[in-house]
Amino acid sequence: MLHSLYEEQIAADPLRTERSTSDPVGYLEHVNRVKESVHIPVIASLNGTTDEGWTSFAPLVEQAGADALELNLYHLSTNLWTSGATLEAYTLDTVRAVRTLVSIPIAVKVFPYFSSIPSLARQFEEIGVNGLILFNRSYQPDIDLETLEVKPDLKLSSSAELLSRLYWIAMLADRVDLSLAVTGGVHTGADALKAILAGADAIQMVSALLLHGPGHLGAVRQEMERWLEAHGHSSLDEIRGIMSLEKREDSRAFSRAGVLEVLQRGIRPGG
Ligand SMILES: Cc1cc2nc3c(=O)[nH]c(=O)nc-3n(C[C@H](O)[C@H](O)[C@H](O)COP(=O)(O)O)c2cc1C
Repeated sequence: MLHSLYEEQIAADPLRTERSTSDPVGYLEHVNRVKESVHIPVIASLNGTTDEGWTSFAPLVEQAGADALELNLYHLSTNLWTSGATLEAYTLDTVRAVRTLVSIPIAVKVFPYFSSIPSLARQFEEIGVNGLILFNRSYQPDIDLETLEVKPDLKLSSSAELLSRLYWIAMLADRVDLSLAVTGGVHTGADALKAILAGADAIQMVSALLLHGPGHLGAVRQEMERWLEAHGHSSLDEIRGIMSLEKREDSRAFSRAGVLEVLQRGIRPGG
């Protein structure tokens, strides 16, 4: 999985002569080089802002050799007059346009802010999307109380962020014909196992690797292998989705009734 090419960077400075993986030509060369150097599928990623940005670049990424394409839908509305329905329709139109232009699998990465994630997932499936990645993280700036400036703040995630992902993956697994991937809050082997149990087909990790380096992947893998062995399983496929809504008879945990139970049990101060 490669980093995204951001449309703002495509437009940034067409006359710049030195190449970087964040300018369009540099990015395509990067896709090509990575593809030639590894024997695993290479997934490119686009983060567009206009119809043209999405559609002009997606076919080029495919031609550069990417095996699949992630559409990083990083759109937060600030317009008082744009309704959720309008935004959802725009999102689907964008993805549909890309779908008609490339034949490699496409996955869509979304924010959790849509009012009906299941309906959105079903509509992605209908327009031929292959994978859904839950969820994008929005980077919200902080306020400096002394200078009264808005300051950009990059906070890495913690495992606490995983829970919203587990919930929605468990809600969707086996109910839509989409590969489901988790991004956000996977730091340990235990986190990754929970995502698989909920029904994830794939897991993305960024914060944990920034904190501990790429070697951390080996530790995560070992922890998963140890757990599988200790619990008598020989593969991840054996446990994938067994905690999903589709597979659990006690679906209360996913419903309003489950929420009430949690609240009534209460959280004791200091407990
Ligand atoms: C330094 C940094 C760079 C990132 N760059 C990208 C990117 O290029 N494309 C993208 O889709 N997400 C990007 N993300 C978001 C991550 O892919 C991921 O969704 C988010 O960090 C949550 O996962 P985590 O808890 O494993 O960090 C970036 C995150 C960080 C911290």
